[in-house]
Amino acid sequence: MPIKWNEKDKVFHLYNHRVSYFIQLVHGKYPAHLYWGRRVSSLQPASILSYKKRAFSPMTEPSDPSFSLDTLPQEYPAFGNGDFRTPAYQLRTKDGSTITEFIYDSHKIFQGKPPLKGLPAAYVEDSTEADTLVLTLVDSKLGIGLHLQYTIYRDIDVITRSVLFEHLGSDEVEIHHCMSMSVDFHHANWDWLHLHGTWARERHIERQPVHRGIQSISSSRGASSHQHNPFLALLSKHATEEYGDVYGVSLVYSGNFQASIESSPFDTTRLSIGINPFDFIWLLKPGETFQTPEALMVYSSEGLGGMSRTFHTLLRTRVCRGIHRDKPRPVLLNNWEATRFHFSEEKLKEMADAASQLGIELFVLDDGWFGKRDNDKSSLGDWQVDQKKLPHGLKGIAEYMQKKGMQFGLWVEPEMISPDSHLYRKHPDWCLHVPGRKRTLSRNQLVLDLTRKEVCDWLVETLTSLFESAPISYVKWDMNRNMTEVRSAVLPPERQKETAHRYMLNLYQILEILTNRFPHILFESCSGGGGRFDPGMLYYMPQTWTSDNTDAVERLKIQYGTSMVYPAVTMGAHVSDVPNHQVGRMTPMKMRCHVAMAANLGFELNVEKLTKEDKRTVMEELRFYHQIKDLVWYGDMYRLLSPFEGTDTAWMYVASNQERAVVFYYKTLATPNPPFFRLPLRGLNPAWLYSINYGEKKFYGDELMKMGLTMPLIKSDFSSETFYLQAVH
Ligand code: DGJ
Repeated sequence: MPIKWNEKDKVFHLYNHRVSYFIQLVHGKYPAHLYWGRRVSSLQPASILSYKKRAFSPMTEPSDPSFSLDTLPQEYPAFGNGDFRTPAYQLRTKDGSTITEFIYDSHKIFQGKPPLKGLPAAYVEDSTEADTLVLTLVDSKLGIGLHLQYTIYRDIDVITRSVLFEHLGSDEVEIHHCMSMSVDFHHANWDWLHLHGTWARERHIERQPVHRGIQSISSSRGASSHQHNPFLALLSKHATEEYGDVYGVSLVYSGNFQASIESSPFDTTRLSIGINPFDFIWLLKPGETFQTPEALMVYSSEGLGGMSRTFHTLLRTRVCRGIHRDKPRPVLLNNWEATRFHFSEEKLKEMADAASQLGIELFVLDDGWFGKRDNDKSSLGDWQVDQKKLPHGLKGIAEYMQKKGMQFGLWVEPEMISPDSHLYRKHPDWCLHVPGRKRTLSRNQLVLDLTRKEVCDWLVETLTSLFESAPISYVKWDMNRNMTEVRSAVLPPERQKETAHRYMLNLYQILEILTNRFPHILFESCSGGGGRFDPGMLYYMPQTWTSDNTDAVERLKIQYGTSMVYPAVTMGAHVSDVPNHQVGRMTPMKMRCHVAMAANLGFELNVEKLTKEDKRTVMEELRFYHQIKDLVWYGDMYRLLSPFEGTDTAWMYVASNQERAVVFYYKTLATPNPPFFRLPLRGLNPAWLYSINYGEKKFYGDELMKMGLTMPLIKSDFSSETFYLQAVH
């Protein structure tokens, strides 16, 4: 069993072949963090923890003046009785105090990984895949237990953590702060990396040194957000794509979050991630429990690339669910950029005719098909087809697509309501709002109050009849604004600060019902592009629209940044028209195809208006895509050249058996009279010979990785090349 309990030293060792994680119960009661990193067979706690009496560090145990919580590397620290650093949790008791004393009570070690009630989480398909430790701390005065749950996967270098608060006492308490994990590293010489952005510029990479004090990223928008992704990595100073220690944490949650780092004067570094404590308070009554979201913790000794590959495996195989998880994803055509709100049945049919000839497999009807939705000012909530645009209804257009050999997909934005809608006129109180105060609009719309049961029931019923009304194989679930006036109409005043989290819990419940009810539907989540690209959403919907920015050059950065955590198969990527709608840039069709096919390929343009030459390129590239898509979706990804560092970008995907690989190389700006350039590849079998693009010449994996593959001399801006490698035995 890869979790060992050493009773004598009071040490837990969680391990698999490559990773170890040690916890010690110091003085038999305080869970201290000893180590997380490359696998060690055993460890002497005394060699890790040193004690010294420090001025101004309170004496936690009078019998042991050198011991203080203030300097102890901990697993789930509190504030108020010795440790002055950022706490992992804080409770406010009936008397107004926030002083608690949770100490070790008991533990359980077992095979498998239990699901988290009401929340998305990584799972196992077989109980032998993982082992779990539940470490219970109790505040006997309050009668409350904190169940710290740790799971280690055997074959994926991941530890998951979450905390269950269980109230067995008699007085209600408020949870003000409840991180999903906290770890104190034993040094402070780190860089940290996170993914930041905004609409149309999601998940750009920022790496900077960890400085003294607290640094954090967060969202208080009611969604994980375009601005910050619920992910943060600590990197050893010299860590690169390929080498060095990297610790990545990601939260399986789609709402407000915070990830923070605090480096202390004694060179320890505290890393935590969880629900954003800002604007959050949860009332916990006797007999109730509160479950935090789950944190995914990845250690890699192979730099950022190793961390990403581990996240990719975990998210693709043990967070995404349903029949589509392992099924080929169809190449789709989405009408949004081609028509916006202005289409007719005839127009869609024309598009479909051209698309089917190109071999498109799924036609997605985006925004504008319902109510009186001729712009973004109305109709959200009125999920009935606009007969003027679609006289034969959804069924008519869906069946037409089927006749053309394509599946039919539909866009919805269920969590929203337009003030100009029948729904709003009937239920003006169904949105998040504060009575007597202004209702702040964003994209002319308001957010439904999902804390209300009748709203959730209405949503499930409405969507059920909608999805049953036509042969719908795919649904794009959009969400185009963040929350304001966050107040629930049904919660009492003392529970108002639960609203944003309860919204998320109820959304998850709705998604659970609908995805179970319609298992054949491939769901893609979206939030004005990638404003809710997170593991929580992937648990219900196995792909996400990466960004509304479809420009091939901009997409290099967005997809490169997104790949830090998320596998290519989860990233919706479309070839769109030029000049590009977001940045006005002209890029050749070949590059647009090469960028989009390095993820989950789709198109978003008037296929029928393509020039003959562009059509030929699309058909050629589609043939290539079908040949390599399994590598992109299921292979190991290696990032080779970063778009954040120059004009060249490259990445490759290698089959797990190393038999095949594909390399994508992009040059955004050409260099005059360019030097020759060899691109070192990764992940190949060094001893095997590989052919490149079916050519005569063969190269050993060894030379391709050490000396590199010679890139063609490129003469024009916005160029790209692909290389298909096949082992020759
Ligand atoms: C935002 C999405 O990201 C777009 O792809 C499109 O579906 C629009 N919403 C439609 O309103």
